Amino acid sequence: MVLLTVFLLMQLARPQKNTSSAPAGKAFVDTFKVGKRVNAILAASCYDCHSNSTNYPWYSEIQPMAWLMEKHVKDGKEKLNFDELPSYGRRKLNSKFTQITNQVEQGKMPLNSYLWMHAGSRLSMEDKELLVNYFNSLADNE
Ligand code: HEC
Repeated sequence: MVLLTVFLLMQLARPQKNTSSAPAGKAFVDTFKVGKRVNAILAASCYDCHSNSTNYPWYSEIQPMAWLMEKHVKDGKEKLNFDELPSYGRRKLNSKFTQITNQVEQGKMPLNSYLWMHAGSRLSMEDKELLVNYFNSLADNE
């Protein structure tokens, strides 16, 4: 009974959602002429935590999932926000592109806890290769 009460009370506290009027990653895609395939991979696996627009699943309405999501989005966006990349200078951009290839090569992203609920977001070998080649080519550009 106590646990149930605590659970119900938790439902009252709702974090603010990460949403924007522009689709996730749009500014990035427009600026860097990102191909459809790469954008589809990023949308399936990265934008939820690294853009200004998260696609919230039904269970994110339930605590403590909502808090967990909020924390991931907040920490993720602090490190990397695809929607902000277009406003960065060359050096900062290159450092972000290198971080992305490192994370993908090391299989660190998407976070494991996210993959439990989003099995479809797991990167295949092919996805990884595509992303790594793509972000390497962006980093080499200038
Ligand atoms: C469930 C949310 C989530 C998803 C999905 C996700 N990330 Fe992250 N990402 C995080 C969080 C949280 C951090 C910061 C903490 C950390 O480094 O573990 C982070 C950190 C990063 C960093 C910075 C690492 C550094 O060097 O500090 C990069 C780059 C990154 N993610 C790339 C990606 C890419 C690329 C994808 C898609 C393939 C992705 N992430 C998917 C949550 C996520």
